[in-house]
Amino acid sequence: MYNKIDLEKIDTNGEVPVLETDRQYYFMEKCRGYVRELERKLGRRPTFFTQTFGCQMNARDSEKLSGILKGIGYEEAESEEADFVVYNTCTVRENANLRVYGRLGVLHGYKKKNPDMKIALCGCMMQETEVVQKIQKSYRFVDLIFGTHNIFKFAELLAMVFEADRMVIDIWKDTNQIVEDLPVARKYPFKSGVNIMFGCNNFCSYCIVPYVRGRERSREPEDIIREIEKLVADGVVEVMLLGQNVNSYGKNLKMPISFAELLREIEKIDGLQRIRFMTSHPKDLSMELIQVMAESKKICKHLHLPLQSGSSRLLKIMNRKYTKEQYLALAEEIRKQIPDISLTTDIIVGFPGETEEDFLETLDVVRRVRYDSAFTFQYSKRTGTPAAAMEEQIPAEVVTERFDRLLETVQKISCEMAERFTGTKQMVLIEEENKRMQGYLDGRLSNNHVVHLKGEASLIGKIVKVRLDECKGFYYMGSLTEGKKTR
Ligand code: SAH
Ligand code: SF4
Ligand code: F3S
Repeated sequence: MYNKIDLEKIDTNGEVPVLETDRQYYFMEKCRGYVRELERKLGRRPTFFTQTFGCQMNARDSEKLSGILKGIGYEEAESEEADFVVYNTCTVRENANLRVYGRLGVLHGYKKKNPDMKIALCGCMMQETEVVQKIQKSYRFVDLIFGTHNIFKFAELLAMVFEADRMVIDIWKDTNQIVEDLPVARKYPFKSGVNIMFGCNNFCSYCIVPYVRGRERSREPEDIIREIEKLVADGVVEVMLLGQNVNSYGKNLKMPISFAELLREIEKIDGLQRIRFMTSHPKDLSMELIQVMAESKKICKHLHLPLQSGSSRLLKIMNRKYTKEQYLALAEEIRKQIPDISLTTDIIVGFPGETEEDFLETLDVVRRVRYDSAFTFQYSKRTGTPAAAMEEQIPAEVVTERFDRLLETVQKISCEMAERFTGTKQMVLIEEENKRMQGYLDGRLSNNHVVHLKGEASLIGKIVKVRLDECKGFYYMGSLTEGKKTR
């Protein structure tokens, strides 16, 4: 946590502050009182647990929720059997939703044993009216429901939960507000996600994200730089800049700035060693960005460039705004200018109307680009999106059969691609102790590959030189080399 505001100095008997950040700190102090009361009642520190179901943006949001819960006196628990549980949900594909309902049943069991337990649901799924209605009807034991646009209000909503003896629901349709400087409890002390923008304006025809995350809003570059500087002062060496389409960052600011320009500014931050970002939409990826990446000493050699489909016909219906040829030309240019880069992607199989020919086009792109890895998804119908209303939904068995073929191709290529680094020495950020092999550590290469190596836990958070001894397909076995430490 890096916003060390002294909560005790806040007078909760005084007026509620008008400025949003101050207002939320005011409610945090109020909640601190309620948590102290609970502690007296339980005879121990109350605990909390947050569970993230979605993407890196959701994970970052969960760190903000944890920051508030820690700030008001809860202690982090190892499992869901805690006094306060938050599920930060995802709705990008149907199976993400189903997992939440399944797990809620388990939580209900815990709550029966612990009547002081509170359960909160937030995130993208809660932006869907039918979901909230279903929870109101069938999951009455939930205490708090809020959405993606008012997550900054968490402290205020918590105060309401403590004061009211009923389900508190607060969902906003959209917002243009960006509230800065609230507390954050990071999962890793040495690396952090940093939101650079929120929402999405692209409306790819299969995707629900624009409906649940609202319109695109960029943060001011000064706020982003200030946040990263504070993170670095707090021990962070690697940042991951987050946005649904980082390549369109800054276009709508009062003083427009490009993503490439933002990267140049971030590069100048002393002490910061690695910069990553997610996600790049191919339609907005500029030559300037490729150049900045090629010249940079800090931007990692990894680009995630979602393809979705290799068929220009389908790409048009998906509203992706690029063709197969344009994508291939872009990938070629990137590989030419940054030869050791790792290119990864997302692919959807079974989009409505997908023919065998369309699918073969996708396989063709996979073979030509030779992705270092790819996330493959079976198309999932999302209510309210244009694709959900399209005729010609593809039968499940056809989707599975194509999916298996795609996966096989993707995996074979990524193994071959990974082999090309075997025997080389690479800088590796040591992230954690390996959970299965005692005495081993897990580290991450600039190109996002994972390596396991023998070493002391004191190396966690450091960037060290590692020889990649053996490639195991999706990861390497490596060893520390001489003169290892960079810091
Ligand atoms: N903003 C990012 C993607 C966010 S969602 C981008 O545009 O690249 C992450 C991935 O989920 C997408 O890239 C897509 O491949 C997949 N996805 C989104 N909606 C989906 C759906 N309805 N069915 C299956 N996969 C989907
Ligand atoms: Fe969804 Fe497309 Fe926006 Fe990505 S760019 S979040 S796939 S609508
Ligand atoms: Fe899921 Fe929301 Fe992310 S729908 S993928 S958590 S933006």
